[in-house]
Amino acid sequence: MKTIRVETQRPYSVKIGRGLLCAAGDHIAKVHPSCTATLVADQTVAGLYGQRVRHTLEAAGFRVVDYTLPPGEGSKTMENLEHLLSFLAGHRLGRGDLIVALGGGVTGDLAGFGAAVYQRGMSYVQLPTTLLAAVDSSVGGKTAVNLPEGKNLVGAFWQPKLVLCDCDSFVSLPAAELSAGAAECLKYGMLGDPVLFDRLAREGLNTDWADIVAACVAAKADIVRTDEREAGPRRLLNLGHTFGHAIEQLSGFSLRHGEGVALGLLMITRAAERKGLCEPGLSGRVIEALRALNLPTRCPYDTVSLTKAALGDKKRQGDQIALVLPRALGDCFIHSIAVSELSEWIKLGLEDLP
Ligand code: NAD
Ligand code: GLY
Repeated sequence: MKTIRVETQRPYSVKIGRGLLCAAGDHIAKVHPSCTATLVADQTVAGLYGQRVRHTLEAAGFRVVDYTLPPGEGSKTMENLEHLLSFLAGHRLGRGDLIVALGGGVTGDLAGFGAAVYQRGMSYVQLPTTLLAAVDSSVGGKTAVNLPEGKNLVGAFWQPKLVLCDCDSFVSLPAAELSAGAAECLKYGMLGDPVLFDRLAREGLNTDWADIVAACVAAKADIVRTDEREAGPRRLLNLGHTFGHAIEQLSGFSLRHGEGVALGLLMITRAAERKGLCEPGLSGRVIEALRALNLPTRCPYDTVSLTKAALGDKKRQGDQIALVLPRALGDCFIHSIAVSELSEWIKLGLEDLP
């Protein structure tokens, strides 16, 4: 097992290993006194791992109540948030109780936001069961739900007490979900770790995920330590996300977050190359890596619809929008453009995609 400390205002550990779900109760009992734990999971994950986690929590002295939601991005709504909060209130839970978020980023984002606002803040722990949640959404304290107008528009920075990542849980992940998580891993490679990028491109999905998760979490912990609330370098973690979120949204969430990010990484690299801001040839390497990870390289949307969708992005400030651009593999920077230039960037990103 590997432990990585996330040194935020309220520091915590991310433990990465195998078989951790069966030992979750003991790990959690070390960071939180016994209380009522609300075990939040979507129906799929509850069916696969709910009982296992419930038993270990009970064995460690927690009383457990289950809260289950339908799987998928459609669950990250204000309506579901209110439903969760009413559930907590209905069970007379207090600030000293605990939320245990078991599942992917949808569960973690919703449950984490519930924890942030219920009685002005209660503790929660993250038990990520998707690769994407393990390397990104469970670490760093961003919690949110979506609005019809855009993704993650309502949320809070609220750090968990502990993150336990059991890489054995990836065994049951559908292949497409593993690929989607790999897109976020590729992002960390592009941001600062060419060795990681090359390894993913070489080994594809047949790799040692515990190793990869540890490298990604260490990279994220480093960035979050210096910029917990995204005023500076944390913005780099949005590489591929401005176009990625737009693609995800246009698909009505039939495309996964990671699939949108994959296309977003490719489009922004091509656009930066064509603008002369990125070393030539990088987009070719991104295409090879995406193919090795069974990720899409073709965007089904046109410039006009993508521009419209991207204009609702949180990274827009007035008439400026901050793009994250690759300069070279492992070297990225923030580049602000006028909103009026956005469609040109998108057009350059889309042109001649293979
Ligand atoms: P998800 O939570 O919807 O999980 C994907 C699917 O996998 C679901 O159908 C789920 O039921 C299933 N699943 C989960 N674990 C499983 C397992 N072990 N075996 C079998 N099936 C399993 O999606 P996701 O890709 O994990 O997360 C995407 C969400 O994360 C998006 O809403 C995105 O905005 C958010 N996100 C948040 C952050 C952050 O910093 N908070 C970062 C990145 C992404
Ligand atoms: N997923 C981007 C961040 O946590 O900042």
